[in-house]
Amino acid sequence: MFDRIHHAGLAVADLDAAKGIFADALGLRVDMTRSPYPGGRQQRGADPTDILDIPIGNSELELNAAAAPGSGVHRFVEGRGGVGALHHICLHTTNVADDVAHLRASGLTQIAASPEQLESGEPWKTVAFFHPRDCLGILFEIWPTDNHRVGDSSQGEGIFTSLHHLGVVTTDLERAREFWCNTIGLRVDTLRSPIGKGRQDDTDNVSILDIPIGDGEIECIQPNDGTSGTAKFLEKYGARAGGTMHHIALGTRDVKSAAEQLQSRGMRLIGAPTDEEAWVHPKSSAGILIELRRDKSSVVDLSGRGWRF
Ligand SMILES: [Fe+2]
Ligand SMILES: [Fe+2]
Repeated sequence: MFDRIHHAGLAVADLDAAKGIFADALGLRVDMTRSPYPGGRQQRGADPTDILDIPIGNSELELNAAAAPGSGVHRFVEGRGGVGALHHICLHTTNVADDVAHLRASGLTQIAASPEQLESGEPWKTVAFFHPRDCLGILFEIWPTDNHRVGDSSQGEGIFTSLHHLGVVTTDLERAREFWCNTIGLRVDTLRSPIGKGRQDDTDNVSILDIPIGDGEIECIQPNDGTSGTAKFLEKYGARAGGTMHHIALGTRDVKSAAEQLQSRGMRLIGAPTDEEAWVHPKSSAGILIELRRDKSSVVDLSGRGWRF
C-alpha cells in the first residue's frame, strides 16, 4: 500500500548550484545523515549519481546529479535543456514485496535490477523502479519503510512545511485516473475534481484530477487545447509517452511572504502571488517549475477521504 509521497526526484546539472536553490534559497536543509554535503550520497552502478536528500514535511526533494558523462541522468538533463528537470516520482510503500508483485502483475516493467533479481521468485525487499513507458511517461520509484528519521537539524527555516503536491501532465485524464487509481491504488478527490470532467482551471485552460496520498497529492493535468504553456510543455516532453512530470508544489502558511523571501534570495516569480498560490520561474530554479501553495494545515478535512478547500 502506498501511503505518502516519499520524494520528488529532481535531475540537476550541478549539485552545488542545486543545493543553493533547493536547500539554501528555499530555507530547507540537506539531510546530512543520509547524504552528507559536500559530495552527497554516492550511488554507483549502471547510472552513477551523486544525491542530496532535502526533507520537506513528510517527504523529500531528492537532487540527482550525474557522476559520469553519458550516464542516464546526464543524458536526461541534456535532453531537457542542460540545466535540470523533474526526473521521477517516489511513493513510500508499507509492503514492498506485495506492491512489487502487484505492479509486475499489472504489466509494469521493473527496471534498474539484474536479470537474476527479476527472475528470482524471492519477494522484493528494497527500492524498486518501473519504466516510464508503463507509467504515462513518469519514471516511478517505490521506497520501503526504513528506520531513518530526519533529525531536527534538517528541518530548515520553516518557510515551507510540506510537499503540497506533484503536478503531472497527461494526454488522457482517464488513462491517468486508471493508472493512479486502478494500478497504484489511490482515489480521486471527487468533491473537488469530478471523474470524467475533472476540475476546470480556466487560467490555463486545463482539466485536473486531484489524487490525495498522505498529506500530499498527485495533481493530474490535461490541457483542454494546444495553446497554453502547459500544453506546449506536454507536446514537447511528454506527447509520445502520454505524459510527464510538470511541477512541484511546496506548502507554506503564507504564500505572499514566502514568495517575497524567495525574490529577496534571487528567485524570479511568474506573475503576482495571491493568498493561495505563486509560481517560481524555472529559469531561476534549475529548470524546475515550482508552485507555492497555501498549506493545508489551516483547512478542515470534511470528507474523511481527502483534503478540501
Ligand atoms: Fe529517487
Ligand atoms: Fe499544481
